[in-house]
Amino acid sequence: MRKKFVAGNWKMYKDKTETVQLISELIEKLNSYTPEVEIAICPPFTSIELAGELIKNSPIKLGAQNMHSEIEGAFTGEVSAKMLKSFNVEYVILGHSERRTYFKETDEFINQKIKRAIEFDLKPIFCLGETLEERENGKTFDVVENQLRLGLNGVSRLDVEKIVIAYEPVWAIGTGRTATPEQAQEVHSFLREKLSKLFDSEIASKIKILYGGSVKPENARDLFKQPDIDGGLIGGACLKADSFYQIILAAQF
Ligand code: 13P
Repeated sequence: MRKKFVAGNWKMYKDKTETVQLISELIEKLNSYTPEVEIAICPPFTSIELAGELIKNSPIKLGAQNMHSEIEGAFTGEVSAKMLKSFNVEYVILGHSERRTYFKETDEFINQKIKRAIEFDLKPIFCLGETLEERENGKTFDVVENQLRLGLNGVSRLDVEKIVIAYEPVWAIGTGRTATPEQAQEVHSFLREKLSKLFDSEIASKIKILYGGSVKPENARDLFKQPDIDGGLIGGACLKADSFYQIILAAQF
C-alpha cells in the first residue's frame, strides 16, 4: 500500500514572519491530531532554513521548489542540490509547469536536475501535465508520456523509486478549475502503466503519483479516493494552515 502524501508548494509567497505564522499554526493543528499521511512543505529558499528549524520534532518534512542541475558554478541566482542537502531538505519539486513556462525549462534540463537530485539523496517531486490546448486537441496522453519518458531518461530501476510524480494539468493550476476525479484517475493510471513498461509493475505499484491543480478541502477527498491518486501537490490552499490541514485530513480514510 502506498502511503498518502500531501505536499504544499508555497510558490513565491510568505516572508519570514508569515513563514513562522503559517508553520506554527499548522503544527498546532497537527499536535491536536496527526493523521497517517506523509506531509511536506516546500517554502521559498529564503524560508528554507527557518522552516527546517520550525518543523523539527514535527511530522512535517521539508522540500524545495527548484534547484539547478550543476553542483556549483557561476549561475547567478541559482541554488544547487548540494546546498539544499546541507539544510536537510528531503524533497525538491522539479519540472513544475511555472518553471517550464516562465523560465523555459526543457525536458532535458529537468532530466539532468532529477538525476542530480537523486545523486545528492534528494527526492524529486517530478511535475508534468498538459496545457488546455493540448487536452482539447486530444494530446494529453502523448504529452504526459513524452514528459515522463524524457524526465526519467537514464534513471535506473533502483533510483526511480525515490521519485514522486505529480500530475498537474496546466489548465487546473491556480484557475479554480480542478480536473474531475475521473479525468485525473485516467491520467494517473496511464502514467502508472507507462512506468510499469519503462521499469516493471512492482516498481510502478510503489511510485506515488500526486495530483495538483486547484485542490481544495472541498474536492480533495474525492480526488484522493481514486485508486491511482496517492495524494496532492497543493498550491493556493496550502497558504492557510486551516485549508492545508483539511486537505491533509482528507487524505486519510
Ligand atoms: P493550485 O493548487 O494553486 O492550483 O497550484 C497547484 C500547483 O501548482 C502546485 O504545485
